[in-house]
Formats: sequence, C-alpha cells, structure tokens
Amino acid sequence: MFFTKLSVVCSIVSLASALIINTPSTPWYSDEEVTITWQNQNTEEPSVFSFLLTSSAVGGDSYAIADDVSPVSGHLTVTLPNVQSGSYVLEAVNVTDVNDVYAESASFEVL
Ligand SMILES: *[C@@H]1O[C@H](CO)[C@@H](O)[C@H](O)[C@H]1NC(C)=O
Repeated sequence: MFFTKLSVVCSIVSLASALIINTPSTPWYSDEEVTITWQNQNTEEPSVFSFLLTSSAVGGDSYAIADDVSPVSGHLTVTLPNVQSGSYVLEAVNVTDVNDVYAESASFEVL
C-alpha cells in the first residue's frame, strides 16, 4: 500500500513540473495562518496552480485553500478553514481541474 502510493506520487512529480511540496513538520490548526513552502525545479516558464488540503481518510473532504498560485515564489501564507481534525496532504492541482494533480506532500496532522 505504502509503496504503491509512493510510486504514484513519484510519477506525478516527474511527469509534471518537478514541483515538490514540503510537508509541514509540525501539526497545523484549523482557522490558523500557515505558510506552505515548496520547491519548483522546472526551468521552463511555469503556469499557476491551486492548493488543496485533502483529508487522508477514505472519502475525506478536500478544501481549496489557494488559487492561482505562481510556482515561482516558493511560499505562501494562507488561513486554514475550519477542518475536521485528522491526517491531511497538500496537493498542487490544475486550477481548472482538481483531478489533475501536479504534486502532493506527505501526510501531516491538522488539529
Ligand atoms: C488544466 O486542465 C485543463 C482542463 O482539463 C486543461 O485544458 C489544461 O491544459 C490544464 N492545464 C495544465 C497547465 O496542464
């Protein structure tokens, strides 16, 4: 299970723009301001993307927390919505198609 997931993530990253989302090292809290950081290893002109905060739970919710993010900047401060406590991942997705995932962080806790 873990290896399957890992290989999917790797292929997404290599296919897309070599965007790497840093996994938060401490838990995040609902309604608090957080800073998302990432690395963009694409040397070509990048396009914008959106950030989703997606629950790792089966059938879990997904929250759009930032739209039209420029990959160049490498960091972004957002205020989290009020989410159910649990394990989440950050996903960078196509602004018009959330199923088109460019990159995904490892899971971390939102409390
Ligand atoms: C985003 O998704 C739309 C709709 O599927 C597609 O036309 C567009 O090319 C995608 N954008 C990128 C940058 O992949």
